[in-house]
Amino acid sequence: MLAQWIIEKKRDGQHLSAEEIRFFIKGYTSGLIPDYQMAALAMTVFFNGMNFEEVTVLTDSMMRSGKVLNLSSVKKHKVDKHSTGGIGDKVSLVLAPLVASCGIAVPMMSGRGLGITGGTLDKMESIPGYSVNLSPSRFISVLKKCGCSMIGQTPELVPADRKLYALRDVTATVPSIPLISASIMSKKLAEGADSLVLDVKWGKGAFMKTRKQAKVLAKTMVEIGKRMKRGMIAVLTNMNQPLGRTVGNAVEVRESIDTLKGQGPDDLVEITLALGARMLVLGKAAKNPAQAVEILKKKLSSGAAFEKFKEMVKFHGGKIEYLDNPDKLPSARFKTSYPSPRNGHLSKIDAELIGRACIVLGAGRRTVDDKIDHSAGITKLVKIGEKIKKGQSLLTLHANNKKKIEDAKTVLAAAFGFSKKRISPPKLITDIIT
Ligand code: URA
Repeated sequence: MLAQWIIEKKRDGQHLSAEEIRFFIKGYTSGLIPDYQMAALAMTVFFNGMNFEEVTVLTDSMMRSGKVLNLSSVKKHKVDKHSTGGIGDKVSLVLAPLVASCGIAVPMMSGRGLGITGGTLDKMESIPGYSVNLSPSRFISVLKKCGCSMIGQTPELVPADRKLYALRDVTATVPSIPLISASIMSKKLAEGADSLVLDVKWGKGAFMKTRKQAKVLAKTMVEIGKRMKRGMIAVLTNMNQPLGRTVGNAVEVRESIDTLKGQGPDDLVEITLALGARMLVLGKAAKNPAQAVEILKKKLSSGAAFEKFKEMVKFHGGKIEYLDNPDKLPSARFKTSYPSPRNGHLSKIDAELIGRACIVLGAGRRTVDDKIDHSAGITKLVKIGEKIKKGQSLLTLHANNKKKIEDAKTVLAAAFGFSKKRISPPKLITDIIT
């Protein structure tokens, strides 16, 4: 078998056999198949797609390209959550300890921010001392003792995706449903959880720009997981405006702490409860989502979820005095409000432009090797539907350099839209796929 025969077959719109897909992924992981042939195959898949059988085999062969974690020594139900990525998406920081405080184990392997979307690991690292690099055995030990652990992907897990994702990033082949599905699901299946709840985001600030595309992606991933005998649910959420009122790293940790103490913004609380409820149902800690929501709300109001967060941070080497005094978390030298140019009802907040402004401020990366500034970002962000007066602040910019603030203001110039008429906030949770 030659790699170019397989590329040719996909180029001409035919389906690949399991043997051909396994040959390609094995060869690419070991270095026998070079980047240029993998890039060519990725581009043919981008244009010609894959059927469900092909995506399942692709996922399985990527999952088997490295180690698969065995979490059977953790006796609780193990349920994870994965988000396809958004702006201001700090749900994992609240959800992992919240669900763990209900008696479910949450093994969470997360990513770093790249492009406009933020990353959970960068947010957690703004807590001084917090290490995201635990060995698999330490990860399992923290899961057993604490019930949740939030780490980075270990190098042994899914090396095929590590190479392929970097290649897709520079060959314009990221937004392909079969490739995204296999990339996400291979990692999640290798992580060893029994069940998985997916937060599939759609809109300006997400990979999937339309609800229709997001539905196809969600259905594909749910079916792959079920085929691999995992409990699966996907929740489709609107990412046309950022989640919560902060975007960045330390600023999002502060908002997560408020939420864990029962004082979070409505949209963040709504999504966290919706995802958490499905995790509790899949983990058999509640009979139905309504009962689960009641359990979760009690854990927030009693402080149990916040205590669990502190416990997890401590297991990871983080200094919990920063959680008790969030004002001590990294804070930028310059904080400037951004005034509204006019009166009206806020009809649009372009999540993509907010994400770009955060990169300019230093809170995100332009390339994989960029260093990020944990203190930079945006706070006090207004929301769609609010009535705004000319000159009123739409958000506060945080940076360590005045030039960055000026540059971010330029990016923000087209981010807001206004209407004379009252506007209802957009529906946040649009579909549940089981
Ligand atoms: N997240 C991933 O892990 N992979 C993709 O392809 C897209 C988003």
